[in-house]
Amino acid sequence: MSSATSPAPSLDPLRIGILGAGQMGAAAAVLFRRAGHEVTLWARNEAKHTQIRETTDATEAFLNQHFGPAPHSGGTLTLESRLAQVDETSDAILECVAEEMDQKTALLSQLPHCRERKALIMTCTSALCVTDMARGSGLVGILVGAHFWNPPHLIPVVEVIPGEGTPETQVQRAMTLLQHAGKIAVRCADVPGFIGNRLQHAMWREALALVDAGVCTAQDVDRVVKWTFALRLPVLGPFENMDLVGLPLVQSIESYLFPHLAVDREPARSLTTRVQEGHTGMKAGQGFYDWTQRDAAEVVALRDRQVVQQLQFLKEQGALEDRPTTGA
Ligand SMILES: NC(=O)c1ccc[n+]([C@@H]2O[C@H](COP(=O)([O-])OP(=O)(O)OC[C@H]3O[C@@H](n4cnc5c(N)ncnc54)[C@H](O)[C@@H]3O)[C@@H](O)[C@H]2O)c1
Repeated sequence: MSSATSPAPSLDPLRIGILGAGQMGAAAAVLFRRAGHEVTLWARNEAKHTQIRETTDATEAFLNQHFGPAPHSGGTLTLESRLAQVDETSDAILECVAEEMDQKTALLSQLPHCRERKALIMTCTSALCVTDMARGSGLVGILVGAHFWNPPHLIPVVEVIPGEGTPETQVQRAMTLLQHAGKIAVRCADVPGFIGNRLQHAMWREALALVDAGVCTAQDVDRVVKWTFALRLPVLGPFENMDLVGLPLVQSIESYLFPHLAVDREPARSLTTRVQEGHTGMKAGQGFYDWTQRDAAEVVALRDRQVVQQLQFLKEQGALEDRPTTGA
């Protein structure tokens, strides 16, 4: 699949090690395999390899169904439980383990061969400071953030985050690899949450505050978001929409509204309580919703089908490309 409309750069096949075979790692492995690379997916627990293979096979089947087979049948995908083996044989690494700084640095510190060879080492962190991670793992000047969005085999943009002191050549290697795999690489400074998660969590902070204040229910928030402004977001980003609305109106609304918006500096009460009670979301069967009453797998499948259709529509309309140009 190619998401970007500009021609993908050419690139000889690389040996890519993906560390962590959860939601992000397993799907990213399929993405890079289909782009022709020799992918090794590292999962420390060998007992889970069969299940992981079922997941990657299902992702392949989904992509085959909606986008056709990989060009020239793609590369290879091997599962591996020995980290040293991945370290010794990879030209590029994508770290996709738990979103904990200590766990990521402990793992990334165990790549002496990649470090010595100045391989391309990327982290899929959602929000953690790439510079701190590079310092904690001895990878200053090597580590690059590559924030994929879930589902990583479908969402076109990957945010690319150079750490402090990361040379331009290293950043360009990451951009080229991602673009070659059909992604739109958006470069971002190393601020917590980068671009997308700062925006997403600003909205979630407000959503939680509304519910905690008793203004509406969680379901009301979801209905309003899904069936109002979310419907036009794929075509009009915030700045395009501000221009459409007219900036004086935006300014007027913000002058009145901003003092009323949430500014909490801690996670919301309703979130913290649920986490403490073990109501951690879909996997647990209970979060803000009772997932024992709904088919969670079908909701995820619906999301994926919707993303595919949206991408196809945007491509047909020529709306999945950068247009000239921001005036700012
Ligand atoms: N899920 C998302 O929506 C999403 C989106 C973008 C980025 N990310 C980021 O991607 C990374 C992975 O997220 P995910 O959703 O795939 O998580 P996940 O829990 O689905 O998968 C993580 C995998 O890594 C393994 N693992 C965890 N800690 C490990 C360790 N210390 N050593 C070795 N293996 C370990 C787990 O067993 C699991 O298989 C995180 O940094 C996350 O913030 C997630």
